[in-house]
Amino acid sequence: MPQINLLRTLLRTTLAITTSLSVVAARDANLLPTVCVTGATGYLASELTAQLLSTGRYMVRGTVRSLANEEKLAPLRTLSGAAERLELMEADLFDAGSFEPCIAGVMFVFHTASPFITSNIVDPMTQLVEPAVKGTEAVLAAAALAGVTRVVLTSSIAAVKGAAPKADGSCFSEDDWNESSTLDGDGLDQYR
Ligand SMILES: NC(=O)c1ccc[n+]([C@@H]2O[C@H](COP(=O)([O-])OP(=O)(O)OC[C@H]3O[C@@H](n4cnc5c(N)ncnc54)[C@H](OP(=O)(O)O)[C@@H]3O)[C@@H](O)[C@H]2O)c1
Repeated sequence: MPQINLLRTLLRTTLAITTSLSVVAARDANLLPTVCVTGATGYLASELTAQLLSTGRYMVRGTVRSLANEEKLAPLRTLSGAAERLELMEADLFDAGSFEPCIAGVMFVFHTASPFITSNIVDPMTQLVEPAVKGTEAVLAAAALAGVTRVVLTSSIAAVKGAAPKADGSCFSEDDWNESSTLDGDGLDQYR
């Protein structure tokens, strides 16, 4: 019997410590720096959000196009740490002002929101170029206004590599720039 009593005491103590640690964790979440991830529902951003949450070092503010699409948001809401440290806000690349409240007060911004489509492109300027360029300008302006110290922009190999390989076969680097892609090309070329 003494062993059972000892076990009960140990279980009660463990439960008490676990409960108080959760209370401390929830309270301290408010003291963590906030980082913003734009386009949080995206392929890259959802993994990025998961990794940021898993560090336990940041509050994460993810921007999404619509808070009404619960099916799309569910994978984010169920990430480990999301209940305590993930906040979702609406922002659209076509609505410059929508990023300001999302970026206000954050330390870093990861800008990943961008149209990533290579098919069914009818109007490449409206579907690809404008949201990518104007959206990035809006995010950078909001970051400057908020005094953000670092912005990470997910570019692409497409920024340096057009349809053709380099004539001399050398590696692409920051000295290269894609000058061959056109809006009249096929979907992949338009995306580039
Ligand atoms: N995937 C790769 O392997 C890879 C590699 C290198 C670079 N990149 C670059 O990284 C960026 C993201 O790529 P990804 O693969 O993560 O693309 P993705 O899965 O298609 O995600 C794009 C994100 O942008 C959002 N978005 C699109 N249009 C928007 C708009 N008008 N307003 C607000 N949000 C909008 C999407 O929101 P919705 O969910 O509402 O559509 C989604 O959250 C792109 O610039 C891509 O070129 C990707």
